[in-house]
Amino acid sequence: MGDKVELPFPQYRCGECGRELPLTEARLTVTCEQHQPSRVVSAVEVRSATHADRHDIEDICDQALGETDVDVFGRTFDVLSQENLVAMSEGRFAGLISLAADGGDLGIVLLSVYPGFQGHGVGRALIAAAAQRAAERGLPGLKAAISNDDVPSFSFYQRHGFVIDAVAKGLLADRYGSAEPGFSGILVRDEIRLRRSVCAA
Ligand SMILES: CC(C)(COP(=O)(O)OP(=O)(O)OC[C@H]1O[C@@H](n2cnc3c(N)ncnc32)[C@H](O)[C@@H]1OP(=O)(O)O)[C@@H](O)C(=O)NCCC(=O)NCCS
Repeated sequence: MGDKVELPFPQYRCGECGRELPLTEARLTVTCEQHQPSRVVSAVEVRSATHADRHDIEDICDQALGETDVDVFGRTFDVLSQENLVAMSEGRFAGLISLAADGGDLGIVLLSVYPGFQGHGVGRALIAAAAQRAAERGLPGLKAAISNDDVPSFSFYQRHGFVIDAVAKGLLADRYGSAEPGFSGILVRDEIRLRRSVCAA
């Protein structure tokens, strides 16, 4: 992401009324385990992307990022040129994980689940499939990068065994020229790099 990109929409979905939300309008709620919204786990099929998925991949990148280029781990990756796994649920394209070997680990270039499918285990299935790919290739770790405002993804990754590996302080604010509001209005400043060993739960 070179120049500042208009924040795409929507990113998350209100667990109470179902409204789809831009990042800045999303808010966090703490609940007990039984009262989390969308606790129904749907059947999810994860498979390698084919040429026929290109349009769907472009669409989800467009909604998540506004483009198919992703700057993470100090490099620029074009999602369309990476190893992509797609998640299908209820016969529809529900989410994407885009993977690239980087620094001896398997890097998650992008993990994105459409708001209407969030909270149904799609993210979980994509992470499990990525860990399997890394194991098949003999790569010891899975790594990911999030922006400091992305509290839902930070929680998600830690629930799946990732720990903080490094923080690129100020990287995102420098890239965009200023710290812009992201999730819940939190200013986007830093890239937090996360890692877990492939065999971790
Ligand atoms: C982080 C992310 C990958 C998680 O994907 P997901 O499919 O919702 O993940 P899962 O359903 O496997 O797990 C989500 C967990 O959060 C919980 N949760 C609680 N409230 C939730 C809510 N309102 N929405 C989603 N999950 C919620 C789920 O119950 C689940 O808990 P668990 O760890 O006990 O299983 C997804 O939210 C995401 O893509 N975020 C980035 C923003 C983005 O790209 N948006 C889409 C643009 S197209």
